Amino acid sequence: MGIVDDGDEHFAGAMDFEGFLHEQAFATMVAALELDLEGLAQNAQGVVVGVKGAVSTFQHFNGFTFHVSRFPPLLYQPAMSKRLTRHSRSAQPVSVVTGGAGFLGSHLLDLLLARGHRVIAIDNFITGSVANIDHLAGNTRFRFIQQDVTEYIFLKGPVDYVWHFASPASPVDYLEFPIQTLKVGSLGTHKALGLAKEKGARFLLASTSEIYGDPLVHPQTETYWGNVNTLGPRGCYDESKRFAEALVMAYHREHDIQTRIVRIFNTYGPRMRLHDGRVVPAFVSQALAHRPITVFGDGTQTRSFCFCSDLIEGIFGLMMGRHTEPVNIGNPHELTMLQFAEEIIRATRSRSRIVFRPLPQDDPKQRRPDITRARKWLKWEPKVPLSEGLKSTIAYFRGKLGRPRRRDRCRARLHRACRGAGHRFARRRIWW
Ligand SMILES: NC(=O)c1ccc[n+]([C@@H]2O[C@H](COP(=O)([O-])OP(=O)(O)OC[C@H]3O[C@@H](n4cnc5c(N)ncnc54)[C@H](O)[C@@H]3O)[C@@H](O)[C@H]2O)c1
Repeated sequence: MGIVDDGDEHFAGAMDFEGFLHEQAFATMVAALELDLEGLAQNAQGVVVGVKGAVSTFQHFNGFTFHVSRFPPLLYQPAMSKRLTRHSRSAQPVSVVTGGAGFLGSHLLDLLLARGHRVIAIDNFITGSVANIDHLAGNTRFRFIQQDVTEYIFLKGPVDYVWHFASPASPVDYLEFPIQTLKVGSLGTHKALGLAKEKGARFLLASTSEIYGDPLVHPQTETYWGNVNTLGPRGCYDESKRFAEALVMAYHREHDIQTRIVRIFNTYGPRMRLHDGRVVPAFVSQALAHRPITVFGDGTQTRSFCFCSDLIEGIFGLMMGRHTEPVNIGNPHELTMLQFAEEIIRATRSRSRIVFRPLPQDDPKQRRPDITRARKWLKWEPKVPLSEGLKSTIAYFRGKLGRPRRRDRCRARLHRACRGAGHRFARRRIWW
């Protein structure tokens, strides 16, 4: 049986990166596509045999001997593509969102469903949460698949758009999961592109302003190549995204896939995790608890913050547009960290004071997108002012930090009352 291991054919997914037949992946593929093993073996034999230059080995699986080969994808494509395109396109566009249970991915799901798409979200919850998508349960146009996208993605039916958002994105997360971050940027992008190629879908990569590293050009235009320390602690994230961009462009040039690259600048909003280490949840949670707000360095480094709904609108516009070159999406309104901390204190009416801590390694000193392309190509501008975006974000975090749940409050009250009265029996009942 012919199986290509270079990911050019998504269907050819039963081999791992080193080129060995992966039995479990193969079984999943067979089950997912409801393939007839004998038919498949015969069909593939016809393709493989006689291919010049094919590097072939034999593998055994379930009593079958499979002829596993690397060979030019174009020779392989016609035989398999008949099977894979047997589904007719639906009237409602079908979108696949990797990283759909994350902060941005979940907002994208909401927008796509609102625009009438059928949506399949894929996530392994490494940094995402069910809470971000549980409001979609029961929606007949929504499906969720729990899967690591560095493994092969098998989907039946047509797909029109692949939105590749899976990746740890906050410094805390990618410092905790450096290898998974590199894998999802490389292998995960490879698998998501394979899916887009197989289905003839349009592909969008959620890239990042981090590819500019500690920029020597300000504000950052898409034509700037960046200043990244490959060896530093942030290198795993920055380089995984740089690799992902290169891979997307290679697929576009080699396979003529319609691709889009969005370079996302700092974005904030509801559904961010409280302790994900990004500056907005960090400052807001400190302010709400009236704890000191930690500013790194002397606070003169700058960032610009885009509200999530603005960002997602821009990304949607990019996918639906016709531009393959990367586009910066972010808010060009720039603030120093000190100004931002003061803004948060004001917005939360906090009694927090500001404390300074040493600047982490490779922390960019300035960040501001040049959004000329987005303005010109997508007719996009951020609309939500910082004060308004912060209001809903703070309300969300207030709810998360919130008052303890009613049951816990009652327990605590009873506990206190019983302890005071010396009712040991009652106290035990309360805690059980
Ligand atoms: N939020 C921002 O300010 C920002 C800025 C620049 C770029 N981005 C990019 O946008 C995307 C989403 O970021 P976010 O802020 O929503 O982060 P997030 O951590 O909230 O979401 C990422 C999601 O991807 C999932 N994921 C990670 N690895 C996976 C894997 N191997 N298989 C399946 N799922 C996997 C996580 O579980 C999570 O649900 C990322 O690609 C990130 O690099 C975000």
